[in-house]
Amino acid sequence: MTSRKLLLLPGDGIGPEAMTEVRKLIDFMNNELQAGFEIEEGVVGGAAYDAHGQAISEEDMAKAMAADAVLFGAVGGPKWDSVPYDVRPEAGLLRLRKDMELFANLRPAICYPALAEASSLKPDVVEGLDILIVRELTGGVYFGEPKEIIDLGNGQKRGIDTQIYDTYEIERIAGVAFELARNRRNKVTSMEKRNVMKSGVLWNEVVTNTHKERYSDVELDHMLADAGGMQLVRWPKQFDVIVTDNLFGDMLSDVAAMLTGSLGMLPSASLGAPDGKTGKRKALYEPVHGSAPDIAGKGMANPIAMIASFAMCLKYSFDMVTEADRLEAAIANVLDRGIRTSDIASGDMTTVSTGQMGDEIVKEFRALST
Ligand code: NAD
Ligand code: IPM
Ligand code: MN
Repeated sequence: MTSRKLLLLPGDGIGPEAMTEVRKLIDFMNNELQAGFEIEEGVVGGAAYDAHGQAISEEDMAKAMAADAVLFGAVGGPKWDSVPYDVRPEAGLLRLRKDMELFANLRPAICYPALAEASSLKPDVVEGLDILIVRELTGGVYFGEPKEIIDLGNGQKRGIDTQIYDTYEIERIAGVAFELARNRRNKVTSMEKRNVMKSGVLWNEVVTNTHKERYSDVELDHMLADAGGMQLVRWPKQFDVIVTDNLFGDMLSDVAAMLTGSLGMLPSASLGAPDGKTGKRKALYEPVHGSAPDIAGKGMANPIAMIASFAMCLKYSFDMVTEADRLEAAIANVLDRGIRTSDIASGDMTTVSTGQMGDEIVKEFRALST
């Protein structure tokens, strides 16, 4: 049987709460569908800092490199606000992305029919929405050097971050976006700020050339990223695939989350390049949301972003497309039945806890699977 080695990194805040619900699905799939997932657990973020003073240990990094896929919860929180910058919880996630070379982050924003009412936008703006943000994940201002604070010696300091993109980085993320668009509605919108940034000028040029040379069958538009943010809330259904850099992708995907009803709904897949010999990709699956300190420990977190990230894992890492489709259908059915965590409840709907939402999705998934 194919190897299905999964590393779970629950992290901090609501990360472990959401991961518990995925664990229920894995247990069901192992016990009743003979899925054969081999589970390992590791520690990341503030939890890792508390355990050994680093945001992720070498041992857990090695486990991540060896796994077929990694499931990641969330990291961070006020408890670690004043720890040294290099070992802050978020550094664990950034190291995983960089060392595993996970350059392509796929963030689908789908508005489930039952949730059109839960968005802060008018239902007709979001009803039936299905867009995909392809965010570059290992370059740009997140990783460019210099990155530092310099003391200027006159009572002033200077904070420096550096945005850098090389041709190959833009080419490969554009390639991912065009390939994905071919299996969707065949349209890519590239977003940058070529009007103020040199990296934006290069981004635009490389995307244009990649399109001309290899993907001229796909429709391509360019948009300045600020206008793109506006268009996302004005009429999001004009988009199919959006390709953009690391920082714009971070911000635009939080905006897109609110089109679906809640940050608690948005999953993501962070993928590397296929291995030349085996064709396998390194991959980490992470909800778009963070550790949500304001609701952590209260059983209020919506586990759907984490569960839908697991569905992406089934599809992209294990080629279990039928199971992934069933899991997505299970989520849709549960929402259709009016089951809501508080972040997606409208009006006077009764709400359920994280655990109850997870149980309902497992129940529905079982009904669709057996
Ligand atoms: P956040 O995503 O944690 O929370 C923003 C808001 O959305 C909060 O009101 C929160 O309650 C709500 N929310 C988020 N996920 C939810 C869910 N599943 N169900 C219901 N409501 C949900 O962002 P923040 O508050 O800006 O950041 C908190 C911490 O998380 C920071 O330390 C930040 O660095 C970290 N963070 C981590 C990740 C990650 O680990 N992938 C992502 C984003 C932020
Ligand atoms: C995200 C998060 C991360 C990012 C942080 C926690 C490093 O906001 O995945 O959206 O900025 O990429
Ligand atoms: Mn973010």
